[in-house]
Amino acid sequence: MTDLSDKVIVVTGATAGLGLVTARELARSGATLVGVGRDPAKGAAAAAQIRQATGNPRVTYLTADLSSQAQVRGLAAELLNRHARLDGLVNNAGAYFERRQESADGLELTFALNHLSYFLLTNLVLGALRAAPAARVVNVSSGAHFGARLNFDDLQNRRGYSGFGVYGQSKLANVLFTYELARRLAGTAVTVNALHPGFVATQFGWNNGGLLRPALRLIQRLVARSPEQGAQTSLYLASAPEVAGVTGQYFVDCRPARSAPASYDEAAARRLWEISEELTGWRGKA
Ligand SMILES: NC(=O)c1ccc[n+]([C@@H]2O[C@H](COP(=O)([O-])OP(=O)(O)OC[C@H]3O[C@@H](n4cnc5c(N)ncnc54)[C@H](OP(=O)(O)O)[C@@H]3O)[C@@H](O)[C@H]2O)c1
Repeated sequence: MTDLSDKVIVVTGATAGLGLVTARELARSGATLVGVGRDPAKGAAAAAQIRQATGNPRVTYLTADLSSQAQVRGLAAELLNRHARLDGLVNNAGAYFERRQESADGLELTFALNHLSYFLLTNLVLGALRAAPAARVVNVSSGAHFGARLNFDDLQNRRGYSGFGVYGQSKLANVLFTYELARRLAGTAVTVNALHPGFVATQFGWNNGGLLRPALRLIQRLVARSPEQGAQTSLYLASAPEVAGVTGQYFVDCRPARSAPASYDEAAARRLWEISEELTGWRGKA
């Protein structure tokens, strides 16, 4: 295990599934760990559980519903207030919505949570990431981005919505954002990589009603890997010495892999970046 005792690392979606294991194992390696969850009681319980499991007292949780831009801004302000330097940011919080819903900002919820929160939070704390000697941004994407296409004429999917299609688009956006941010940060000490964790037995998708939840639980029991196995690539990218300086790549099972052809479209990545700036009101130099 790499000694992370001089590192401050933020993990979003750290109250369950992959994020909880990622937070716990980074804390076990000695990091000052800041977990982010939307439910304060779950956050407090996760912090206590991690402190007890690892013996690391430097574990705190902050509360933010990341689908709300006001709450992402509040979270970023709190992070910057507490930490002048951030050594890592694992953008992990994400969800699947069977039916179209809108965020507090009136945006399609999957896009708001799975893509715009990664974009806005990362950019808002970039100064603190730049202040670290070699900060790492890790974006949890998914193999579900294969086959997805961004429809720039209807990014909010107002004209027709398919839960899986829209989820795949949001995960393609994660890879496009990763590659674009890496290009914009070229020559700096901040690296940014994306990953697919595999099919993992977490609470992913359980927020949906109907038959989806029992069906998912059954399939998970049959074929999914454990959250401990699924978190390995996030942990590798956030902490392994082997990937120091490696940036702008997509990883599966702790190895670089080709992402979908659509993810290498630089014009689409730039366009997504500009639209994300407009939708979040964030403008600055990455
Ligand atoms: N599981 C898989 O097979 C799989 C495969 C590929 C990619 N992924 C990706 O892995 C990431 C983690 O998913 P998971 O499988 O660990 O799912 P999970 O068990 O459902 O955990 C998701 C985490 O995100 C948090 N979250 C959800 N909505 C949020 C919001 N609005 N604001 C703040 N936090 C929110 C959840 O908080 P609560 O505890 O409050 O619900 C939880 O901590 C996601 O980005 C997902 O797309 C998962």
